[in-house]
Amino acid sequence: MPITTIIEPFRIKSVEPIRCTTREQREELLKAAGYNLFLLPSGDVLIDLLTDSGTGAMSTEQWAAVMRGDESYAGSPSFDRFRDSVQEIFGYRHVIPTHQGRAAERILFGTICRKGDIVPNNTHFDTTRANVEFVGAEAIDLPSPEAREPGHPYSFKGNMDVAALEQLIVRTARGRIPLVMLTITNNSGGGQPVSMENARAVSALCRRHGIPLYFDACRFAENAYFIKVREPGYAEKTPKRIAQEMFALGDGCTMSAKKDGMANIGGFLCTNDDALARQEKDLLILTEGYPTYGGLAGRDLEAVAVGLQEALHEDYLQYRIASIAYLGNHIASQGVPIMQPPGGHAVYLDARAFLPHVPPEQFPGVALANELYLEGGIRSVEIGTLMFAGAARMDLVRLAIPRRVYTQSHIDYVVEVILEVWQRRERIRGMKLLEEAPFLRHFTAKMEPL
Ligand SMILES: Cc1ncc(COP(=O)(O)O)c(C=O)c1O
Repeated sequence: MPITTIIEPFRIKSVEPIRCTTREQREELLKAAGYNLFLLPSGDVLIDLLTDSGTGAMSTEQWAAVMRGDESYAGSPSFDRFRDSVQEIFGYRHVIPTHQGRAAERILFGTICRKGDIVPNNTHFDTTRANVEFVGAEAIDLPSPEAREPGHPYSFKGNMDVAALEQLIVRTARGRIPLVMLTITNNSGGGQPVSMENARAVSALCRRHGIPLYFDACRFAENAYFIKVREPGYAEKTPKRIAQEMFALGDGCTMSAKKDGMANIGGFLCTNDDALARQEKDLLILTEGYPTYGGLAGRDLEAVAVGLQEALHEDYLQYRIASIAYLGNHIASQGVPIMQPPGGHAVYLDARAFLPHVPPEQFPGVALANELYLEGGIRSVEIGTLMFAGAARMDLVRLAIPRRVYTQSHIDYVVEVILEVWQRRERIRGMKLLEEAPFLRHFTAKMEPL
Protein backbone atom coordinates (compact mmCIF):
# COMPACT_ATOMS: atom_id res chain seq x y z
CA MET A 1 0.00 0.00 0.00
CA PRO A 2 1.43 3.42 -0.89
CA ILE A 3 1.87 5.79 2.08
CA THR A 4 -0.72 8.54 1.86
CA THR A 5 -0.16 10.54 5.06
CA ILE A 6 0.94 14.07 4.20
CA ILE A 7 3.47 15.23 6.80
CA GLU A 8 4.98 18.58 7.73
CA PRO A 9 8.01 18.56 5.36
CA PHE A 10 10.38 19.95 8.02
CA ARG A 11 11.65 19.18 11.47
CA ILE A 12 11.70 21.71 14.29
CA LYS A 13 14.99 23.23 15.37
CA SER A 14 13.91 26.10 17.58
CA VAL A 15 10.79 26.09 19.70
CA GLU A 16 8.70 28.84 21.24
CA PRO A 17 6.52 27.90 24.22
CA ILE A 18 2.84 28.79 24.06
CA ARG A 19 0.83 29.46 27.19
CA CYS A 20 -2.34 27.71 28.31
CA THR A 21 -4.71 29.88 30.30
CA THR A 22 -7.77 28.80 32.28
CA ARG A 23 -11.28 29.57 31.19
CA GLU A 24 -11.64 31.95 34.17
CA GLN A 25 -8.48 33.81 33.08
CA ARG A 26 -9.78 34.04 29.53
CA GLU A 27 -13.09 35.45 30.77
CA GLU A 28 -11.16 38.20 32.57
CA LEU A 29 -8.81 38.77 29.62
CA LEU A 30 -11.74 39.14 27.22
CA LYS A 31 -13.45 41.60 29.53
CA ALA A 32 -10.27 43.67 29.86
CA ALA A 33 -9.88 43.67 26.04
CA GLY A 34 -13.44 44.96 25.53
CA TYR A 35 -14.24 41.64 23.82
CA ASN A 36 -11.99 42.71 20.94
CA LEU A 37 -9.41 40.03 20.12
CA PHE A 38 -7.07 42.61 18.54
CA LEU A 39 -6.64 44.06 22.03
CA LEU A 40 -5.42 40.80 23.62
CA PRO A 41 -1.72 40.47 24.44
CA SER A 42 -0.41 37.72 22.13
CA GLY A 43 1.13 35.89 25.12
CA ASP A 44 -2.39 35.14 26.33
CA VAL A 45 -3.30 33.45 23.04
CA LEU A 46 -2.68 29.71 22.72
CA ILE A 47 -3.16 29.28 18.96
CA ASP A 48 -2.97 32.54 17.03
CA LEU A 49 -4.91 32.41 13.75
CA LEU A 50 -5.42 36.17 13.50
CA THR A 51 -3.38 36.41 10.29
CA ASP A 52 -0.95 34.55 8.03
CA SER A 53 0.88 37.81 7.32
CA GLY A 54 4.43 37.99 8.68
CA THR A 55 3.68 35.25 11.21
CA GLY A 56 5.45 32.35 9.47
CA ALA A 57 8.56 30.49 10.63
CA MET A 58 11.76 31.04 8.67
CA SER A 59 13.89 28.11 7.54
CA THR A 60 17.52 27.34 8.38
CA GLU A 61 18.45 28.55 4.88
CA GLN A 62 16.67 31.85 5.48
CA TRP A 63 18.41 32.35 8.83
CA ALA A 64 21.73 31.53 7.19
CA ALA A 65 20.94 34.11 4.50
CA VAL A 66 20.12 36.67 7.20
CA MET A 67 23.71 36.39 8.39
CA ARG A 68 24.89 37.13 4.83
CA GLY A 69 22.90 40.37 4.83
CA ASP A 70 25.00 43.31 3.62
CA GLU A 71 23.80 46.55 5.18
CA SER A 72 25.47 48.95 2.73
CA TYR A 73 23.28 51.95 1.96
CA ALA A 74 23.80 51.66 -1.81
CA GLY A 75 24.75 48.82 -4.13
CA SER A 76 24.32 46.02 -1.58
CA PRO A 77 24.88 42.48 -2.93
CA SER A 78 21.85 41.51 -0.82
CA PHE A 79 19.75 43.57 -3.22
CA ASP A 80 21.30 41.75 -6.19
CA ARG A 81 20.29 38.39 -4.71
CA PHE A 82 16.81 39.72 -3.90
CA ARG A 83 16.31 41.14 -7.42
CA ASP A 84 17.62 37.98 -9.09
CA SER A 85 15.28 35.76 -7.06
CA VAL A 86 12.27 37.99 -7.79
CA GLN A 87 13.12 38.27 -11.49
CA GLU A 88 13.58 34.54 -11.92
CA ILE A 89 10.00 33.93 -10.77
CA PHE A 90 8.17 37.12 -11.74
CA GLY A 91 10.15 38.06 -14.86
CA TYR A 92 9.57 41.84 -14.68
CA ARG A 93 12.28 44.36 -15.68
CA HIS A 94 12.20 46.58 -12.60
CA VAL A 95 12.16 45.29 -9.02
CA ILE A 96 11.57 47.92 -6.35
CA PRO A 97 11.86 46.78 -2.70
CA THR A 98 9.39 48.13 -0.12
CA HIS A 99 8.85 47.49 3.58
CA GLN A 100 5.57 45.65 2.93
CA GLY A 101 2.74 45.27 0.42
CA ARG A 102 0.86 48.46 1.17
CA ALA A 103 3.97 50.58 0.51
CA ALA A 104 4.20 49.01 -2.96
CA GLU A 105 0.50 49.82 -3.45
CA ARG A 106 0.91 53.44 -2.36
CA ILE A 107 3.82 53.98 -4.75
CA LEU A 108 2.07 52.23 -7.66
CA PHE A 109 -1.25 54.07 -7.32
CA GLY A 110 0.53 57.32 -6.41
CA THR A 111 2.29 57.29 -9.80
CA ILE A 112 -0.17 55.57 -12.16
CA CYS A 113 -3.58 56.84 -10.92
CA ARG A 114 -5.25 60.23 -11.10
CA LYS A 115 -8.37 61.58 -9.41
CA GLY A 116 -11.48 60.20 -11.12
CA ASP A 117 -9.73 57.08 -12.48
CA ILE A 118 -11.19 53.59 -12.07
CA VAL A 119 -9.24 50.53 -10.87
CA PRO A 120 -10.95 47.16 -11.40
CA ASN A 121 -9.80 44.12 -9.38
CA ASN A 122 -11.29 40.65 -8.79
CA THR A 123 -11.54 41.83 -5.17
CA HIS A 124 -9.47 44.62 -3.64
CA PHE A 125 -7.82 43.83 -0.35
CA ASP A 126 -8.62 46.56 2.19
CA THR A 127 -5.19 48.30 1.98
CA THR A 128 -5.35 48.14 -1.83
CA ARG A 129 -8.78 49.75 -1.86
CA ALA A 130 -7.66 52.40 0.64
CA ASN A 131 -4.60 53.28 -1.45
CA VAL A 132 -6.67 53.56 -4.65
CA GLU A 133 -9.20 55.79 -2.89
CA PHE A 134 -6.45 57.86 -1.27
CA VAL A 135 -5.47 59.24 -4.69
CA GLY A 136 -9.11 60.00 -5.53
CA ALA A 137 -9.65 56.99 -7.81
CA GLU A 138 -12.48 54.49 -7.58
CA ALA A 139 -11.81 50.83 -6.64
CA ILE A 140 -14.26 48.44 -8.30
CA ASP A 141 -14.55 44.75 -7.38
CA LEU A 142 -15.53 42.37 -10.18
CA PRO A 143 -15.55 38.87 -8.63
CA SER A 144 -16.96 35.98 -10.63
CA PRO A 145 -20.63 35.22 -9.85
CA GLU A 146 -19.61 31.88 -8.18
CA ALA A 147 -17.88 33.85 -5.40
CA ARG A 148 -21.29 34.91 -4.11
CA GLU A 149 -22.20 31.36 -3.07
CA PRO A 150 -20.31 30.62 0.19
CA GLY A 151 -21.35 26.96 0.40
CA HIS A 152 -20.53 26.01 -3.20
CA PRO A 153 -17.13 24.37 -3.80
CA TYR A 154 -16.16 25.84 -7.22
CA SER A 155 -12.49 25.25 -8.09
CA PHE A 156 -11.60 28.84 -9.03
CA LYS A 157 -13.83 31.10 -7.00
CA GLY A 158 -11.17 33.81 -7.03
CA ASN A 159 -11.69 34.48 -10.75
CA MET A 160 -12.57 37.87 -12.17
CA ASP A 161 -15.85 38.37 -14.01
CA VAL A 162 -14.38 38.95 -17.49
CA ALA A 163 -17.70 39.97 -19.11
CA ALA A 164 -18.25 42.60 -16.39
CA LEU A 165 -14.69 43.87 -16.90
CA GLU A 166 -15.31 44.22 -20.63
CA GLN A 167 -18.53 46.15 -20.03
CA LEU A 168 -16.75 48.45 -17.59
CA ILE A 169 -13.91 49.11 -20.06
CA VAL A 170 -16.33 49.80 -22.90
CA ARG A 171 -18.44 52.28 -20.93
CA THR A 172 -15.49 54.08 -19.29
CA ALA A 173 -13.81 57.00 -21.03
CA ARG A 174 -10.55 56.02 -22.72
CA GLY A 175 -7.56 56.51 -20.44
CA ARG A 176 -9.58 56.47 -17.21
CA ILE A 177 -8.64 52.90 -16.34
CA PRO A 178 -4.87 53.18 -15.74
CA LEU A 179 -4.52 49.49 -14.81
CA VAL A 180 -6.46 46.32 -14.03
CA MET A 181 -5.47 44.24 -11.00
CA LEU A 182 -5.80 40.52 -10.31
CA THR A 183 -5.35 39.41 -6.70
CA ILE A 184 -3.88 35.89 -6.41
CA THR A 185 -5.21 34.27 -4.36
CA ASN A 186 -8.30 36.35 -3.74
CA ASN A 187 -7.91 37.05 0.01
CA SER A 188 -11.09 39.05 0.62
CA GLY A 189 -13.01 36.47 -1.40
CA GLY A 190 -11.94 33.60 0.91
CA GLY A 191 -8.34 32.86 -0.18
CA GLN A 192 -9.71 31.38 -3.40
CA PRO A 193 -7.51 30.87 -6.48
CA VAL A 194 -7.62 32.46 -9.94
CA SER A 195 -7.29 30.02 -12.86
CA MET A 196 -4.74 30.43 -15.63
CA GLU A 197 -7.61 30.47 -18.09
CA ASN A 198 -9.19 33.42 -16.30
CA ALA A 199 -5.86 35.30 -16.03
CA ARG A 200 -5.30 34.68 -19.75
CA ALA A 201 -8.73 36.05 -20.63
CA VAL A 202 -8.24 39.14 -18.44
CA SER A 203 -4.78 39.69 -19.94
CA ALA A 204 -6.06 39.39 -23.54
CA LEU A 205 -8.84 41.88 -22.83
CA CYS A 206 -6.43 44.34 -21.20
CA ARG A 207 -3.98 44.06 -24.12
CA ARG A 208 -6.76 44.62 -26.64
CA HIS A 209 -7.62 47.87 -24.89
CA GLY A 210 -4.03 48.92 -24.12
CA ILE A 211 -4.50 48.71 -20.34
CA PRO A 212 -1.66 47.34 -18.16
CA LEU A 213 -2.42 44.29 -16.00
CA TYR A 214 -0.87 44.08 -12.52
CA PHE A 215 -1.00 41.20 -10.07
CA ASP A 216 -1.46 41.58 -6.34
CA ALA A 217 0.81 38.59 -5.91
CA CYS A 218 0.85 38.00 -2.11
CA ARG A 219 -0.13 34.32 -2.32
CA PHE A 220 1.15 33.52 -5.82
CA ALA A 221 2.68 30.17 -4.79
CA GLU A 222 -0.54 28.88 -3.22
CA ASN A 223 -2.40 30.03 -6.34
CA ALA A 224 0.10 28.19 -8.58
CA TYR A 225 -0.39 24.98 -6.61
CA PHE A 226 -4.18 25.17 -6.95
CA ILE A 227 -3.72 25.53 -10.71
CA LYS A 228 -1.44 22.49 -10.74
CA VAL A 229 -3.94 20.25 -8.98
CA ARG A 230 -7.22 21.67 -10.31
CA GLU A 231 -6.73 23.05 -13.83
CA PRO A 232 -6.49 20.68 -16.80
CA GLY A 233 -3.05 20.66 -18.44
CA TYR A 234 -1.00 21.76 -15.42
CA ALA A 235 -0.49 18.55 -13.40
CA GLU A 236 2.98 17.95 -14.85
CA LYS A 237 4.23 21.54 -14.48
CA THR A 238 6.12 22.77 -11.43
CA PRO A 239 4.56 25.55 -9.31
CA LYS A 240 7.45 27.80 -10.39
CA ARG A 241 6.72 27.28 -14.10
CA ILE A 242 3.05 27.94 -13.47
CA ALA A 243 3.86 31.14 -11.58
CA GLN A 244 6.20 32.25 -14.39
CA GLU A 245 3.49 31.58 -16.97
CA MET A 246 0.97 33.62 -15.01
CA PHE A 247 3.24 36.62 -14.42
CA ALA A 248 4.14 36.68 -18.14
CA LEU A 249 0.48 37.61 -18.73
CA GLY A 250 0.94 40.88 -16.83
CA ASP A 251 2.98 44.07 -16.84
CA GLY A 252 3.92 44.23 -13.16
CA CYS A 253 2.88 43.37 -9.62
CA THR A 254 2.69 44.43 -6.01
CA MET A 255 3.77 41.93 -3.39
CA SER A 256 3.69 41.52 0.37
CA ALA A 257 6.58 39.17 1.13
CA LYS A 258 4.96 38.55 4.54
CA LYS A 259 2.86 35.88 2.85
CA ASP A 260 4.43 33.72 0.10
CA GLY A 261 7.75 35.52 0.58
CA MET A 262 7.96 33.46 3.80
CA ALA A 263 9.42 36.45 5.64
CA ASN A 264 8.35 38.40 8.70
CA ILE A 265 8.56 41.72 6.85
CA GLY A 266 9.08 42.88 3.26
CA GLY A 267 7.48 43.55 -0.07
CA PHE A 268 8.15 44.81 -3.58
CA LEU A 269 6.75 46.48 -6.65
CA CYS A 270 7.58 45.31 -10.17
CA THR A 271 6.98 46.85 -13.56
CA ASN A 272 8.09 46.52 -17.17
CA ASP A 273 7.49 50.23 -17.79
CA ASP A 274 10.80 52.14 -17.75
CA ALA A 275 9.30 55.63 -17.42
CA LEU A 276 6.96 54.55 -14.63
CA ALA A 277 9.81 52.77 -12.80
CA ARG A 278 11.79 56.04 -12.79
CA GLN A 279 8.89 57.90 -11.15
CA GLU A 280 8.32 55.05 -8.71
CA LYS A 281 11.96 55.02 -7.64
CA ASP A 282 11.85 58.80 -7.08
CA LEU A 283 8.87 58.36 -4.79
CA LEU A 284 10.56 55.38 -3.13
CA ILE A 285 13.58 57.50 -2.20
CA LEU A 286 11.26 60.10 -0.69
CA THR A 287 9.38 57.74 1.63
CA GLU A 288 10.90 54.23 1.75
CA GLY A 289 14.61 54.42 1.03
CA TYR A 290 17.27 54.10 -1.63
CA PRO A 291 16.26 51.75 -4.52
CA THR A 292 18.68 49.00 -3.46
CA TYR A 293 16.99 48.52 -0.09
CA GLY A 294 13.56 50.24 -0.14
CA GLY A 295 12.26 50.07 3.42
CA LEU A 296 14.25 46.94 4.26
CA ALA A 297 17.48 45.91 5.92
CA GLY A 298 19.93 43.89 3.80
CA ARG A 299 19.15 40.84 5.96
CA ASP A 300 15.43 41.16 5.18
CA LEU A 301 16.18 41.23 1.44
CA GLU A 302 18.15 38.00 1.88
CA ALA A 303 15.34 36.28 3.80
CA VAL A 304 12.83 37.17 1.08
CA ALA A 305 15.19 36.06 -1.72
CA VAL A 306 15.33 32.57 -0.18
CA GLY A 307 11.70 32.52 1.03
CA LEU A 308 10.19 33.18 -2.41
CA GLN A 309 11.94 30.09 -3.75
CA GLU A 310 10.99 27.93 -0.75
CA ALA A 311 7.32 28.94 -1.08
CA LEU A 312 7.32 27.20 -4.46
CA HIS A 313 8.65 23.85 -3.21
CA GLU A 314 6.07 21.25 -4.09
CA ASP A 315 6.28 19.24 -0.85
CA TYR A 316 5.75 22.43 1.15
CA LEU A 317 2.76 23.50 -0.97
CA GLN A 318 1.21 20.04 -0.82
CA TYR A 319 1.44 20.10 2.98
CA ARG A 320 0.27 23.72 3.18
CA ILE A 321 -2.87 23.27 1.09
CA ALA A 322 -3.60 19.87 2.66
CA SER A 323 -3.40 21.23 6.21
CA ILE A 324 -5.89 24.03 5.46
CA ALA A 325 -8.23 21.53 3.78
CA TYR A 326 -7.79 19.14 6.74
CA LEU A 327 -9.13 21.78 9.14
CA GLY A 328 -11.95 22.85 6.81
CA ASN A 329 -13.06 19.33 5.89
CA HIS A 330 -13.02 18.02 9.47
CA ILE A 331 -15.32 20.72 10.78
CA ALA A 332 -17.52 20.81 7.66
CA SER A 333 -18.08 17.03 7.91
CA GLN A 334 -19.66 17.65 11.33
CA GLY A 335 -22.02 20.25 9.90
CA VAL A 336 -20.07 23.44 10.71
CA PRO A 337 -20.87 25.95 7.94
CA ILE A 338 -17.72 27.21 6.17
CA MET A 339 -16.89 29.01 2.93
CA GLN A 340 -16.33 26.21 0.44
CA PRO A 341 -13.88 25.04 -0.64
CA PRO A 342 -11.25 25.81 2.05
CA GLY A 343 -8.88 28.52 0.76
CA GLY A 344 -5.10 28.57 0.37
CA HIS A 345 -4.24 30.28 3.65
CA ALA A 346 -7.39 30.21 5.77
CA VAL A 347 -10.71 28.61 6.63
CA TYR A 348 -13.67 30.96 6.95
CA LEU A 349 -16.57 30.08 9.26
CA ASP A 350 -19.95 31.37 8.13
CA ALA A 351 -21.07 33.00 11.37
CA ARG A 352 -24.58 33.89 10.13
CA ALA A 353 -25.26 30.20 9.43
CA PHE A 354 -23.43 29.09 12.61
CA LEU A 355 -25.50 31.45 14.81
CA PRO A 356 -28.77 31.98 12.88
CA HIS A 357 -30.44 33.38 16.04
CA VAL A 358 -27.91 36.27 16.21
CA PRO A 359 -28.85 38.99 13.67
CA PRO A 360 -26.03 40.86 11.84
CA GLU A 361 -26.58 43.99 13.98
CA GLN A 362 -25.58 41.87 16.99
CA PHE A 363 -22.25 40.91 15.35
CA PRO A 364 -22.44 37.09 15.03
CA GLY A 365 -18.82 36.95 13.78
CA VAL A 366 -17.53 38.77 16.86
CA ALA A 367 -19.64 36.57 19.14
CA LEU A 368 -18.27 33.41 17.51
CA ALA A 369 -14.63 34.60 17.53
CA ASN A 370 -15.00 35.42 21.24
CA GLU A 371 -16.38 31.93 21.95
CA LEU A 372 -13.40 30.27 20.20
CA TYR A 373 -11.06 32.23 22.44
CA LEU A 374 -13.09 31.49 25.55
CA GLU A 375 -13.32 27.78 24.76
CA GLY A 376 -9.71 27.13 23.76
CA GLY A 377 -7.56 30.28 23.63
CA ILE A 378 -7.79 30.47 19.82
CA ARG A 379 -7.57 33.90 18.21
CA SER A 380 -9.34 34.45 14.88
CA VAL A 381 -10.70 37.55 13.18
CA GLU A 382 -14.20 38.71 12.35
CA ILE A 383 -14.72 39.76 8.73
CA GLY A 384 -18.24 41.08 8.73
CA THR A 385 -20.50 43.68 10.28
CA LEU A 386 -17.92 45.04 12.73
CA MET A 387 -15.29 45.37 9.99
CA PHE A 388 -17.48 46.67 7.15
CA ALA A 389 -20.61 47.97 8.97
CA GLY A 390 -23.61 48.22 6.58
CA ALA A 391 -21.51 47.16 3.56
CA ALA A 392 -20.97 43.65 4.98
CA ARG A 393 -22.53 41.01 2.72
CA MET A 394 -21.54 38.18 5.07
CA ASP A 395 -20.41 37.63 8.64
CA LEU A 396 -17.32 35.43 8.56
CA VAL A 397 -14.72 34.34 11.09
CA ARG A 398 -11.35 33.83 9.42
CA LEU A 399 -8.93 31.24 10.79
CA ALA A 400 -5.69 32.16 8.97
CA ILE A 401 -2.91 29.61 9.31
CA PRO A 402 0.65 30.95 9.75
CA ARG A 403 3.19 29.22 7.48
CA ARG A 404 5.25 26.32 8.97
CA VAL A 405 4.25 27.25 12.54
CA TYR A 406 1.60 24.84 13.80
CA THR A 407 1.62 21.03 13.60
CA GLN A 408 -1.25 18.65 12.92
CA SER A 409 -1.96 18.22 16.65
CA HIS A 410 -2.44 21.98 16.95
CA ILE A 411 -4.92 21.78 14.09
CA ASP A 412 -6.65 18.77 15.70
CA TYR A 413 -7.01 20.87 18.83
CA VAL A 414 -8.55 23.73 16.80
CA VAL A 415 -11.03 21.25 15.26
CA GLU A 416 -12.01 20.00 18.72
CA VAL A 417 -12.54 23.52 20.06
CA ILE A 418 -14.69 24.54 17.08
CA LEU A 419 -16.83 21.40 17.42
CA GLU A 420 -17.27 22.04 21.14
CA VAL A 421 -18.52 25.58 20.41
CA TRP A 422 -20.73 24.17 17.60
CA GLN A 423 -22.39 21.81 20.16
CA ARG A 424 -23.49 24.70 22.34
CA ARG A 425 -24.14 27.23 19.58
CA GLU A 426 -27.76 27.82 20.56
CA ARG A 427 -26.67 29.33 23.88
CA ILE A 428 -24.29 31.87 22.33
CA ARG A 429 -25.48 35.46 22.56
CA GLY A 430 -24.81 38.43 20.28
CA MET A 431 -22.69 41.47 21.10
CA LYS A 432 -23.32 45.14 21.71
CA LEU A 433 -20.99 47.87 20.45
CA LEU A 434 -19.92 50.29 23.21
CA GLU A 435 -17.17 52.34 21.59
CA GLU A 436 -15.99 52.79 18.00
CA ALA A 437 -13.46 54.85 16.02
CA PRO A 438 -14.64 56.82 12.94
CA PHE A 439 -12.76 54.50 10.54
CA LEU A 440 -11.29 50.96 10.65
CA ARG A 441 -13.32 50.51 13.82
CA HIS A 442 -12.68 46.77 14.16
CA PHE A 443 -9.13 47.36 15.42
CA THR A 444 -10.11 49.33 18.51
CA ALA A 445 -13.87 48.85 19.11
CA LYS A 446 -15.05 47.98 22.62
CA MET A 447 -17.95 45.54 22.91
CA GLU A 448 -19.89 43.55 25.51
CA PRO A 449 -22.06 40.41 25.33
CA LEU A 450 -25.80 41.01 25.26
C1 LIG B 1 -4.27 40.40 -0.99
C2 LIG B 1 -3.44 41.34 -0.16
N1 LIG B 1 -2.95 42.46 -0.72
C3 LIG B 1 -2.20 43.33 -0.02
C4 LIG B 1 -1.91 43.12 1.32
C5 LIG B 1 -1.11 44.15 2.07
O1 LIG B 1 0.14 43.68 2.46
P1 LIG B 1 0.88 44.24 3.76
O2 LIG B 1 0.11 43.81 4.95
O3 LIG B 1 2.25 43.65 3.68
O4 LIG B 1 0.93 45.72 3.64
C6 LIG B 1 -2.41 41.97 1.95
C7 LIG B 1 -2.13 41.74 3.38
O5 LIG B 1 -2.79 40.99 4.08
C8 LIG B 1 -3.20 41.06 1.19
O6 LIG B 1 -3.70 39.94 1.74
